[in-house]
Amino acid sequence: MERLQKVIANSGYTSRRKAEELIINNHVCVNGEVVNTLGYKVNDNDIITIDGITITKNTNYEYYLLNKPREVICSVSDEVGRKCVVDFIKTKTRIYPVGRLDYDTTGLIILTNDGNLANILMHPKNKVYKTYIAKINGILNEEDFKCLRKGIMIDKRILKIDHFKVKSIDKEKNTSLVEVTIHEGRNHIVRKLFESLHYDVLKLTRSKYANLTLDNLKSGEYRELSSSEVRELYKLG
Ligand code: URA
Repeated sequence: MERLQKVIANSGYTSRRKAEELIINNHVCVNGEVVNTLGYKVNDNDIITIDGITITKNTNYEYYLLNKPREVICSVSDEVGRKCVVDFIKTKTRIYPVGRLDYDTTGLIILTNDGNLANILMHPKNKVYKTYIAKINGILNEEDFKCLRKGIMIDKRILKIDHFKVKSIDKEKNTSLVEVTIHEGRNHIVRKLFESLHYDVLKLTRSKYANLTLDNLKSGEYRELSSSEVRELYKLG
């Protein structure tokens, strides 16, 4: 048995304090009956609704942010024995990556066993922003900037670039580091974007996902998301 406000907060619906306000103000029902006392305890079988919406109870969801190294696949297992993102996380729970990064792409990936949140993050209508830093074999010119500002046709669909910035240029090596923010989840989309401008992506890393950044995580390191970070992600839905 757990306190109602705790179960609501753990579900990712809102904070513990807001859950308490909702309870006191008669927004919460347990098994169809309004409950407005804070000490009320519920069990796994109780159905909790807030303003008529049933919350998904969760006492054991897990959320991780991994800095994925190169040569790792975004999968839970691999037939040919390559390293998988889940191999980095010390848990007995069956978690999986939210979306994909290519085998050679590094950077920020979320892993969880929370299917509701994974669906929210992957649904195109929710426009989850992702920032990538690409090292390309060349230096962007005015014509490229125009294309990036206008959007680029890829596989018969326009890709809108929400933000881009040239971070640095190495004239000697003829390479650049370009930061792009997009809200699409199509496979290999950043590589295709630069290919369509006739550049190869030599290195690619995802530095930001929604409001989450890699901070000081080294390649292969991970951390758990805090409940307020999970709540913020839920708000994207
Ligand atoms: N776009 C790509 O091309 N590759 C990734 O891994 C992610 C986005």
